[in-house]
Amino acid sequence: MSLSTPENIDAYIAQQYGHEHDNTMFATALSAMKAADLPSINVSASEGMLLNVLTRAIAAKRILEIGSLGGYSGLWFASALPHGGKLVTLEIDSKHAGVAQACFDAAGFSDRTEVILGPALESLDRLIRDAVDAFDIVFIDADKPAYPQYLERAKKLVRRGGLILADNTLTHGALDPNADTGITQYNRAVAESPELTSAIIPTMRDDIDGLTVSVFRG
Ligand code: SAH
Ligand code: DHB
Ligand code: MG
Repeated sequence: MSLSTPENIDAYIAQQYGHEHDNTMFATALSAMKAADLPSINVSASEGMLLNVLTRAIAAKRILEIGSLGGYSGLWFASALPHGGKLVTLEIDSKHAGVAQACFDAAGFSDRTEVILGPALESLDRLIRDAVDAFDIVFIDADKPAYPQYLERAKKLVRRGGLILADNTLTHGALDPNADTGITQYNRAVAESPELTSAIIPTMRDDIDGLTVSVFRG
């Protein structure tokens, strides 16, 4: 049997580079999420490491996340931020938002994180209306049908040269030429968008999925 299963690849990457990160912090977060009965739909450790490296690669100071869940991916971003950096994360479910906030507080990241409770489209439109400082990274990881709408907002909130990231872009019908889902619409919109240059990085968990990385050229 092949050793190259998604689980084995995920575990290998996580184990190979785990020493570079505060593993107690991530383990504590996962335990808190489990204790609160949150669904296990957070990014894997190997994908979290990729988010952390992307943040450092472009020296991101401001990150916007759509879909907090218990704060697990948020911790991978927040722990890559410099002092004075900020992660804003949007969440519709008050229980999820509470777990995420507690996670950030326990990690000592209260000052660099803000959890905004409510439907993400409303929060995004408020951020646009308030003309907040541009974000270096926008990470889309909430309800899949709304991905095309999140993309439209992300382009208004990200700086030129910043990244728009989207999780789960190789599932939800992505590879089926007859499917019409939020993800297939997202992937097409990204491909047709002249201001984006993009790639999809396959990600590993129990199964193979993908993270779209788009550079916003403005
Ligand atoms: N990024 C997280 C996982 C997010 S799971 C991680 O990797 O750790 C998706 C989250 O999006 C769930 O918590 C869900 O409650 C939230 N969500 C779903 N629809 C939403 C909406 N319309 N607005 C804001 N959040 C939403
Ligand atoms: C689901 C959502 C996610 O963001 C993910 O990474 C995996 C699964 C889901 O809704 O099933
Ligand atoms: Mg996801």
